Amino acid sequence: MRTPFIAGNWKMNLDRTGAVALSKAIAQATLPEGVEVGICPPTVYLGDCLAETDGSPVGVGGQDMHFEPNGAFTGETSGDMLVDIGCRYVILGHSERRQFFGETDASVNKKLMVALEKGLIPIVCVGELLEQREAGQTQQVVQEQVEGSLAGLTPEQVAQIVIAYEPVWAIGTGKVATPEQAEEVHADLRSLLESRYNTESSSKVRIQYGGSVKPGNAEELLAQPNIDGALVGGASLQAESFLAIIEAAQATR
Ligand code: 13P
Repeated sequence: MRTPFIAGNWKMNLDRTGAVALSKAIAQATLPEGVEVGICPPTVYLGDCLAETDGSPVGVGGQDMHFEPNGAFTGETSGDMLVDIGCRYVILGHSERRQFFGETDASVNKKLMVALEKGLIPIVCVGELLEQREAGQTQQVVQEQVEGSLAGLTPEQVAQIVIAYEPVWAIGTGKVATPEQAEEVHADLRSLLESRYNTESSSKVRIQYGGSVKPGNAEELLAQPNIDGALVGGASLQAESFLAIIEAAQATR
């Protein structure tokens, strides 16, 4: 039985007051049993959000990291630094980083190795563009991203990761994948992991769905057998909607 995992990706949103208030509201809410909850604030507010969530079950994560531990990499944050301040998670390979910042499966793979070595739980993002879906290439694109990003991992390491399937056409557009569309990709991904690693490891990997998840559509998505949580953008920026998605995860257990 996989523990559902709801994570908020705040992207480059909120100011310090808003980040503190939001993390406080989530940390102080009565969270349902049996749902893992994480927030990924902008890097500059990580410390503030960690202070607000301290002692609560809410975990905090970075939105990206560099694979080197330190050095002359202006503007970057290392996995060691995330661990040092108390982060539990790191998002890797988000489509916005792939699209705007040159992230590739190869760079995600390097970061993933380091994240696992440092004890961070990586949330590895994959997903197809609209034109790729329309051309019938979804399965191929997503499989290639997973194979490239996870290259060289042992079955034991694979069991520890989280994958987020985020169809790019559904991100921030209000166009959500139907539960059937999402489940099809999630089930394919789990079969791929099973064939590349083993049943035990593949059955442990949490596969989140991301892309316009809202309180109104969360439950039917999360009720799918291979959808083990959500990576939430816009709806994670308000405590009320984020908490409603967490409740929906509990309702489907
Ligand atoms: P939205 O929920 O705003 O569509 O964003 C999804 C996402 O990119 C989460 O990483």
